[in-house]
Amino acid sequence: MVPDFQGQGIGGQLIKRGLQWLSASGTDLVFVLGHPGYYPRYGFQPASPLGFEAPYPIPDKDADAWMVQALRPNVIGTVSGKVVCADVLDRPEYWRE
Ligand SMILES: CC(C)(COP(=O)(O)OP(=O)(O)OC[C@H]1O[C@@H](n2cnc3c(N)ncnc32)[C@H](O)[C@@H]1OP(=O)(O)O)[C@@H](O)C(=O)NCCC(=O)NCCS
Repeated sequence: MVPDFQGQGIGGQLIKRGLQWLSASGTDLVFVLGHPGYYPRYGFQPASPLGFEAPYPIPDKDADAWMVQALRPNVIGTVSGKVVCADVLDRPEYWRE
């Protein structure tokens, strides 16, 4: 986003709208690799302790950046394992800082 338009809530609105769209389309779980000080305000929490392994290894120092949000009740705790990402994101360099 161009700097002049950052910090006005646009990113947050896009996240909220995206979550609404995913929920309406039947998505159960949403994963992000992002800033652990930012995404929790939109309902994300660390995914590794809940049993979800990232597609590529995340260094321990960044472990909290791998996050998940359930869009349906009773999903977390019933599934676990290594997450497979979309082909466009399936490159190891996208998962490193
Ligand atoms: C990241 C980005 C999409 C967020 O969109 P936005 O419209 O500016 O975000 P919002 O206005 O909804 O939220 C602003 C909050 O996000 C925080 N934030 C913005 N960029 C951030 C980042 N990269 N990491 C952590 N927090 C960030 C701001 O500090 C601000 O926090 P505050 O509410 O406590 O003051 C946008 O700022 C951007 O394009 N930045 C440049 C590129 C970038 O940093 N991308 C991230 C790559 S992982």
